[in-house]
Amino acid sequence: MTSLAAELSRIAGKAFAAEGLSDSFGRVAASDRPDLAQFQCNGALAAAKISKSNPRAIAEKVSGRLKAEEIFSKVEIAGPGFLNLDLTDEALNARAARLAKRDGPAAANGKTAVIDFGGPNIAKPMAVHHLRSSIIGDCLQRLYRANGWKVISDVHLGDWGLQMGQLISEVEIRGLAPVYFDAAFTGPYPEVSPVTMEDLEELYPAASAACKADPARLEKARRATVELQAGRPGYHALWRHFVKVTEVGLTREFASLGVTFDLWNGESSVDALIAPMLEDLKARGLAEMSEGALVVDVAEESDKKPMPPLILVKSEGGVLYGTTDLATVIERVRAYDPDLILYVVDHRQHGHFEQVFRAAERAKLSGKAHLEHVGYGTMNGADGKPFKTRAGGAMKLHDLIAMAAAEAEKRLAEQGIGADYSPAERGEIARKVGIATIKFADLSNHRTTDYIFDLERYSKFEGKTGPYLQYAAVRIQSMLRKAQLQGLEAAAPVIHSPEERKLVLQLLSLGDLLAAAEDKRAPNMLCEYAFELAQNFSRFYGAHHVLSEPDASLRAARLGLCALVLAVLTRILGLLGIEVPERM
Ligand code: ARG
Repeated sequence: MTSLAAELSRIAGKAFAAEGLSDSFGRVAASDRPDLAQFQCNGALAAAKISKSNPRAIAEKVSGRLKAEEIFSKVEIAGPGFLNLDLTDEALNARAARLAKRDGPAAANGKTAVIDFGGPNIAKPMAVHHLRSSIIGDCLQRLYRANGWKVISDVHLGDWGLQMGQLISEVEIRGLAPVYFDAAFTGPYPEVSPVTMEDLEELYPAASAACKADPARLEKARRATVELQAGRPGYHALWRHFVKVTEVGLTREFASLGVTFDLWNGESSVDALIAPMLEDLKARGLAEMSEGALVVDVAEESDKKPMPPLILVKSEGGVLYGTTDLATVIERVRAYDPDLILYVVDHRQHGHFEQVFRAAERAKLSGKAHLEHVGYGTMNGADGKPFKTRAGGAMKLHDLIAMAAAEAEKRLAEQGIGADYSPAERGEIARKVGIATIKFADLSNHRTTDYIFDLERYSKFEGKTGPYLQYAAVRIQSMLRKAQLQGLEAAAPVIHSPEERKLVLQLLSLGDLLAAAEDKRAPNMLCEYAFELAQNFSRFYGAHHVLSEPDASLRAARLGLCALVLAVLTRILGLLGIEVPERM
């Protein structure tokens, strides 16, 4: 992977080291003032502070060494000791040619990450926070894989909590499937589920409302949850049906969004690990009884706000969200020994993860893994409240995609795109554009902020939108196709103008970008990059002839540059989970 800033940092680092200073002062980054230089290095100032010497004097010595390097066309000292650096076009051309030859995922880095995202709950409809988790989590799994990580993604279904007891008791009260409640029945239970997905969608809200209204009803649900967790056969069989039925629906929804998981595990998957975990924690004096519940104290002296203990077992015997999450740490460490576990979950669950992580650390359950909550804000509607589809009900992924695709279809017609395509192709393009609209809206906003999903704005073909970028890629694609039909050859890019230089510099920062986006778990950086690339390209394209360039070698170099831009743009869009249509 080409990481130009990283390469320059190594060169500058050596120059600092040769002056007896730490090579870490050699960090080079893209310049804040691209009008003055391509790159900058501010290390002389930091080095001077530590060695109590004159920053300019250090900068002079380092710059003397850098001037001897062929790669630089300019090494200048600015102000108190900043180093401004430009590269020769030859150096840039050589690296662009290399990038064009071997673009693709990085070599394996030997590290493993488990990424926990999606997290829908059985029987409950998917909510907007599940949508964000799915889009951001999917982008992160693609990015980490591209950067050489081994990634195991896990949907971590909510399938073991109180909502299961609420449903079971609702089925009992309504007399829908008596056999599962008949204590004398010895099985086997029916293969076919007594309820459909549609039934569940009606049953769960009814049960949940009834439990809110009536404490005795809630108590019944609690008991059913405890009995399910204790393994009562009829409840377990009924629960399996709920899970199966929901999974079929969820798989379809995720597939329509282009999101996949390696593991379809859930809270229940660690059931067998819970009892031994509790025994172990008790034996080591880490879990203790408090007001009838079994808890782990996770408070720390430095806490500014009181940190409540993590409850493992409630007084009536049920285990909780934190219990299954803690056991899941054990499971993942055993199965994959990961270096990193990311939890892509709504930032309102921050307290929960803080408790779980502290408990895992106190009990030394996480092996070599760093546990991290990758939180995110809310996707709001125009009214500033969590987004709902037009029907007003809770959001359904299917409806949202249909809505965005319909908007895309309208926009495509306005732009006069695809008027002569078959309805099937137009529909397929609209689907891809609709998904790009949703994903780009979500990913381009920094994940920690709330944002307003304004369908109208994000469906536009201008501005920072998914459709704009798809369209930009499609146009380059069709231009290159034309070149091929005309038998025009492409060659490695060669810089002849400021626009070309700017494009090449941006292309060569791809590796730095991918590393930074990984480091900050920040998909929005990928969005920014893609948008800037499309803009830099359109400036270049507006100022230069490509197909109509009479000079064959100039034309070939420009075609090569276009092909490289397309490859990188498509690649970034791919990391965002956005497909580029064949034509638009
Ligand atoms: N099911 C949870 C919810 O709906 C999200 C699960 C997140 N992952 C986890 N390991 N806790 O909020």
